Amino acid sequence: TSDVLLPTPPMGWNSWNHFHRNINEKLIMGEADAMVASGMKDAGYEYVNLDDCWMALQRDKDGNLQSDPERFPHGIKYLSDYVHKKGLKLGVYSSAGTKTCAGWPASLDHEQADAKMFAKWGVDYLKYDNCNNEGRPAISRYTKMKNALDASGRQIVFSICEWGSNNPWQWAPTLGGLWRTTGDISDNWNSMIQILDEQVGLNTFASKGHWNDPDMLEVGNGGMTNTEYVTHFSLWCILAAPLITGNDLRNMSDNTHDILTNKEVIAIDQDPAAKEGYKLTSNGDREVWVKPLADGSWAVLLLNRGDQGCFMTMKIQDLDIKKAGTYTVRNLWSHKEEQRADGLVRADVAPHGVQMFKVTAQN
Ligand code: GLA
Repeated sequence: TSDVLLPTPPMGWNSWNHFHRNINEKLIMGEADAMVASGMKDAGYEYVNLDDCWMALQRDKDGNLQSDPERFPHGIKYLSDYVHKKGLKLGVYSSAGTKTCAGWPASLDHEQADAKMFAKWGVDYLKYDNCNNEGRPAISRYTKMKNALDASGRQIVFSICEWGSNNPWQWAPTLGGLWRTTGDISDNWNSMIQILDEQVGLNTFASKGHWNDPDMLEVGNGGMTNTEYVTHFSLWCILAAPLITGNDLRNMSDNTHDILTNKEVIAIDQDPAAKEGYKLTSNGDREVWVKPLADGSWAVLLLNRGDQGCFMTMKIQDLDIKKAGTYTVRNLWSHKEEQRADGLVRADVAPHGVQMFKVTAQN
């Protein structure tokens, strides 16, 4: 299923990072409207995902999950019809535990009934968390839901949110389309960079249909500078990460909009070779991250983690790239390119900033 549903990492929006528990159907419909009106849909975003707290505090008399009667009075089918009419897809959230992380009813020991309900409602994506799991082994809890989704009669993306606790990259690729590799991101530089460091060594576990998930984006939520958000987004694209935005799409600054809809950077994330990028070199605060692309070119990202601006160079011959006399080096943020005969990628890099390029061999 995942190979068909996610040949490239999923793109969409999720309610948690900005709204936490405060969600309702009007808000979700507004975000779906904004995804279309803002050009996010045209840039490739399609999933509109509810996170925790969409459900009622009690199951119904037959033991089925139901949406909160006040905040989601028309039910989840109504929402999925609404987003499907816009050419978008709907995601919901539950936990492989007795309760969600926020304490709402969850799906442990209700896997079949809940998966059936999600399918009946027209749900396209399930984020499946790890709270209140009663200490039961992760693999069997996630396998049960994977089997229930397979039997549900609908193709549903399975997003495994196990926080990297049991090396999910070793077992989740056979179960889900994506798996969280770390604890939760926060909207600040240190959190984002810590998560980056935790991705080192995981790139070989990603493949077409099966993606490492370094958690959802914080771009536009206000806790980082614009430069830092460019860095966050660029790194997630080098990592072939799911691009699940977590800001309020109805109120985006121009800067936020321009980051999230940069098609040249998104194309690196969505490259059909389906290879996750990796750290090539590091030297103090300076790191070079690279990602091989389907057409034989490479994405190259120069990262400056320090508090002072710096000048960085990297040798194109350090990439497994065709030997050539000249290389086209295209800056994916300034959209300017140059021909380089000296075999170098070179740039000034701002504090906490990146420069990101596509490098292509010429004949
Ligand atoms: C966990 C997950 C988060 C979010 C919250 C909701 O912390 O890792 O992404 O879904 O639960 O309660």
